[in-house]
Amino acid sequence: MPRILIASCAGAAGRDDDEPLLLAALAEAGLTAATADWADPGVDWGSADVVVIRSTWDYVERRDEFLAWARRVEAVTTLLNPADVLTWNTDKRYLAELADAGLPVVPTAWLADAADVPAALARWAGDVVVKPAVSAGARDTVRFPPAERAEAAAFAGRLLAEGRAVLVQPYLDRLDTEGETGLVYLDGTYSHAFGKAALLAGGRLAPDLFAEETITARTATDGQRRVGDDVLTELRTRRGIEPLYARVDLVPGPDGAPLVLEVELTEPSLFLHVADGAAARLAATIGARLG
Ligand SMILES: Nc1ncnc2c1ncn2[C@@H]1O[C@H](COP(=O)(O)OP(=O)(O)O)[C@@H](O)[C@H]1O
Ligand SMILES: [Mg+2]
Repeated sequence: MPRILIASCAGAAGRDDDEPLLLAALAEAGLTAATADWADPGVDWGSADVVVIRSTWDYVERRDEFLAWARRVEAVTTLLNPADVLTWNTDKRYLAELADAGLPVVPTAWLADAADVPAALARWAGDVVVKPAVSAGARDTVRFPPAERAEAAAFAGRLLAEGRAVLVQPYLDRLDTEGETGLVYLDGTYSHAFGKAALLAGGRLAPDLFAEETITARTATDGQRRVGDDVLTELRTRRGIEPLYARVDLVPGPDGAPLVLEVELTEPSLFLHVADGAAARLAATIGARLG
């Protein structure tokens, strides 16, 4: 009987680069683990001592179902990260709360209604990015140049008509040369960083499950570390969130200072392969939660 179940999804089979590294590290640590599809009704989640969410990437189209599943699992065993955390983190409106707390978040206009669209699109003169509040893997995330504000409005209107809240942000073009930096924290402790090339450098994206990404090892700067550490402190001290894993995605603002694009507490790829010992550290933190 595996003590640990790793929650994945059918579409992720063979596509999660972290999974074989994590399974090997867990085995190395003497822990039995297996992978299961969160949407498979035949899985006995309660038979595991802990369920660790990893590549559940298809939850975006059925978030309510996913969160209901998380609550059911949590009723019978330990779920990491917990259902409350998933509920908060699967809607990017958490970014507004982090901005209110004083953290440097990418400037964002929040759209709940078609009436909000014109002002949001008029707020920035250059390229803008329009994306839904519930998304992952850059799905439905589109960049529009200034000449295409009508297209941007139509796209935002379509998302709103589907009942989805929408974000508009300025396109941060230093990303094209400097890339995005992800900081990975395991049990609140900094583990490693990676670089991700700009995904919208060429405009629109239409990935199936997630966008193809170019990932490299990267050393976080002191400034990036400070922002990442501040995010983790905010989570712990003001929200009581002590995540098993957290990924803070940073992009360079116009002056080069790091801005928070996303704080991923749900199903972040951790790119364990870019840093020596990262898989072993994750396995150890899971083992520690088992007591
Ligand atoms: N404001 C922005 N400026 C530049 N690029 C952006 C911006 N917002 C998103 N992107 C690009 O789109 C990708 C996906 O957007 P993100 O906000 O991380 O959503 P998710 O990863 O949840 O789909 C980012 O990794 C980045 O390459
Ligand atoms: Mg992202």
